[in-house]
Amino acid sequence: MVPLLITLSLACVFSSTSSDPLPTNYEYYTSGGISSGLSADQPYFTLNGKNFSIYSGAMHYFRVPRAYWRDRMKKMRAAGLNTLETYVAWNLHEPYSGVYDFGDGGSEMEDFLHIQELLKTAQEEDLFVILRPGPYICAEYNYGGFPAWLLREGAGFRTNEATYMKYVKRYFDKLLSVINDYQFTKGGSIIAFQIENEYGYAAYKDWVPERPYLEGLQQLYIDNDVVELLLTSDSPTVEGDAGTLPGVFQATNLGTDPEEQFNKILKRQPNKPLLAMEFWVGWFDFWADVHHTTPPDTVRDVLERILKFPASFNLYMFIGGTNWGFTNGASLGADTFNNSVFIPVTTSYDYDSVLTEAGDYTDKYFVVKELLQQYSTIPTNTPEVPNLAPKEPYRYIKVQKRLSFSDIVDKNAPYVINSPNLLPMELLDINNNSGQSVGYIVYRKENVDLPVSTVLKIEGHVCDTALVLVNGVLISPVLESKDDFNGFGYWRLENSTITLLTGEGLSNATVDIVVEEWGRMNGGNIYQYNKTFKGLWQELLQVMFTLTMKKISDWKIIPLEFKKNWTNNLEGWTDKTTNEGTALFYAALEIPTEPRDTFIDMRKWNKGLVIVNGFPIGKYLFLGPQQTLYIPAPFLRKGTNDIVIFEHFEAADEVSFASKQIWSAVNDGK
Ligand SMILES: *[C@@H]1O[C@H](CO)[C@@H](O)[C@H](O)[C@H]1NC(C)=O
Ligand SMILES: *[C@@H]1O[C@H](CO)[C@@H](O)[C@H](O)[C@H]1NC(C)=O
Ligand SMILES: *[C@@H]1O[C@H](CO)[C@@H](O)[C@H](O)[C@H]1NC(C)=O
Ligand SMILES: *[C@@H]1O[C@H](CO)[C@@H](O)[C@H](O)[C@H]1NC(C)=O
Ligand SMILES: *[C@@H]1O[C@H](CO)[C@@H](O)[C@H](O)[C@H]1NC(C)=O
Ligand SMILES: *[C@@H]1O[C@H](CO)[C@@H](O)[C@H](O)[C@H]1NC(C)=O
Ligand SMILES: *[C@@H]1O[C@H](CO)[C@@H](O)[C@H](O)[C@H]1NC(C)=O
Repeated sequence: MVPLLITLSLACVFSSTSSDPLPTNYEYYTSGGISSGLSADQPYFTLNGKNFSIYSGAMHYFRVPRAYWRDRMKKMRAAGLNTLETYVAWNLHEPYSGVYDFGDGGSEMEDFLHIQELLKTAQEEDLFVILRPGPYICAEYNYGGFPAWLLREGAGFRTNEATYMKYVKRYFDKLLSVINDYQFTKGGSIIAFQIENEYGYAAYKDWVPERPYLEGLQQLYIDNDVVELLLTSDSPTVEGDAGTLPGVFQATNLGTDPEEQFNKILKRQPNKPLLAMEFWVGWFDFWADVHHTTPPDTVRDVLERILKFPASFNLYMFIGGTNWGFTNGASLGADTFNNSVFIPVTTSYDYDSVLTEAGDYTDKYFVVKELLQQYSTIPTNTPEVPNLAPKEPYRYIKVQKRLSFSDIVDKNAPYVINSPNLLPMELLDINNNSGQSVGYIVYRKENVDLPVSTVLKIEGHVCDTALVLVNGVLISPVLESKDDFNGFGYWRLENSTITLLTGEGLSNATVDIVVEEWGRMNGGNIYQYNKTFKGLWQELLQVMFTLTMKKISDWKIIPLEFKKNWTNNLEGWTDKTTNEGTALFYAALEIPTEPRDTFIDMRKWNKGLVIVNGFPIGKYLFLGPQQTLYIPAPFLRKGTNDIVIFEHFEAADEVSFASKQIWSAVNDGK
């Protein structure tokens, strides 16, 4: 094997030498040494003094398996792009207050967090990098990238408020020290940093975005020896200069009408280059809503107009990827705190982007490649388009085991917190006093006598969905249509009730209220960020049995975070004799050969969470539009793979697999 490889690589060298190869981007832009980085001091960009157009694609490393980063980058470079853009997710890198993870740091997402490796791999694949560390990133990501433990601190988000800035500074000092050496002028790949994110959009009623906050962030970069270009990005046609800083390069975000945006920017920022920091080539999806698509011809039209203007761009997204586990965000309606308009984002962040969620080529890929071949003026070497990884629709498997809800709690409770009052998940004193950020929270009341017709009343709103069980038996109605979101067990109702028993009364019963965190707001108004606790918490909130109208106190609170070590060590599984939820279900996927990418098809299930070999890959909901969940090959192994499903309502007898994502119109009615 080894001699053969050497022969092959020699042959490569000879053939490429004889055809006088074009330089790589790094050869072209760093030959003769590096004396300057990305500059916007003239009507066009220069990099190290040479004319440069930013042809960038967005790939959020936390939405793509680490084992596939290089593959996605090769595809990016082969399309003719020269730059990779990514946000940096604070909530992942500082999962608990003061506890950091930049790869293998012990957190649940540790494998995604090797940011130095990402920056190095990009350079190896001949891509420059634009970094957008926020700290607020929106990105349809959980809490817009904020760690949920910030809710414990009474911080004033996205402002210069002292507590907030104290934590931002602590995190930025850490992050920027980790990536400092990866700046372009120090021999690395990062050519620019974005300050905040669409801060102009944060304007709300009489609240105006605070320039001192942006200045504070700018100062953190300066203090941490960041020397590359700083920029801000907003849509100037909407927000004018609300999110900008004097002297800091302003980019724009757009989906259509590039000329309108660019001309507006040129008015306030003449003699500068233009950059569409986000050119939206697709869009994200919400649960129980339509799947959004943008035709390739629209992308061709707008991209060509951007190139002709001429302007630089970042394709948002080049590859959208996946909101693994509990990482999806949600939209929240504008008026103060109004749960009525909570809308969670789907697990898939496919975005109808240039590559699919699973890294496959779309028509848009070839549109981009063709246009860049036509418009690119700097002759650098564009590698061949890589082959695709085969997908495997594995044969369906039977569900073998079930773990009842009672046994989940009785035999596996990771903590039981006794509390006189209801507490939101973030205020539990667990995880090094950082609270619970993800998963479900169980409010258990034991030893209650329930006369017949007892009604359970929850004052305020639940955040976000609630299941009620009496002695381990689900009382909540099975979700059947989107309209059910207006009823008991969902966020919209203020003050909701459910009848616990119709037949006979019960004495010494156990009542569980299981509340799901379905996604923290990723965008909303400035007053909402420090109020979006999850669980049962609202100011007036009480839970009571209305037959006696007695407020219930003295709860047992059990957080269910679905940490890998917990899921892999669950006790109490039995042979499955019923499909009744709320429960965990187990199926074994045997893979005799090297695993391949696949999609688990959840159309026969109702609502819940899928966990593969201990890692929660995401949520599902029969209402759509997403009907399958992407399982990348690196999450599977040769041999037995553990598929564990937390189903709220009603399981199916089997799970099946598909070779691609299945979208539906809103599947309203079962
Ligand atoms: C750089 O681009 C500008 C604007 O297109 C052009 O005027 C200038 O000649 C270019 N410089 C080089 C060295 O190509
Ligand atoms: C707990 O948090 C503190 C900072 O708040 C940190 O120094 C310490 O390492 C953390 N401990 C663990 C076990 O994570
Ligand atoms: C939320 O933040 C605002 C500042 O934006 C502050 O005035 C307010 O006290 C904070 N509220 C809480 C509950 O921390
Ligand atoms: C909350 O939003 C819904 C839907 O927009 C609206 O009908 C309702 O009146 C709002 N409630 C409050 C208290 O603002
Ligand atoms: C909900 O209950 C609280 C407390 O009893 C009450 O103040 C509030 O007006 C009720 N809201 C609605 C919409 O009925
Ligand atoms: C109530 O039920 C629990 C088990 O859930 C049991 O341990 C306890 O002895 C019962 N108490 C009474 C008074 O029946
Ligand atoms: C993993 O779980 C097992 C069994 O519950 C426990 O003994 C072990 O300490 C846990 N390990 C870690 C790293 O949490």
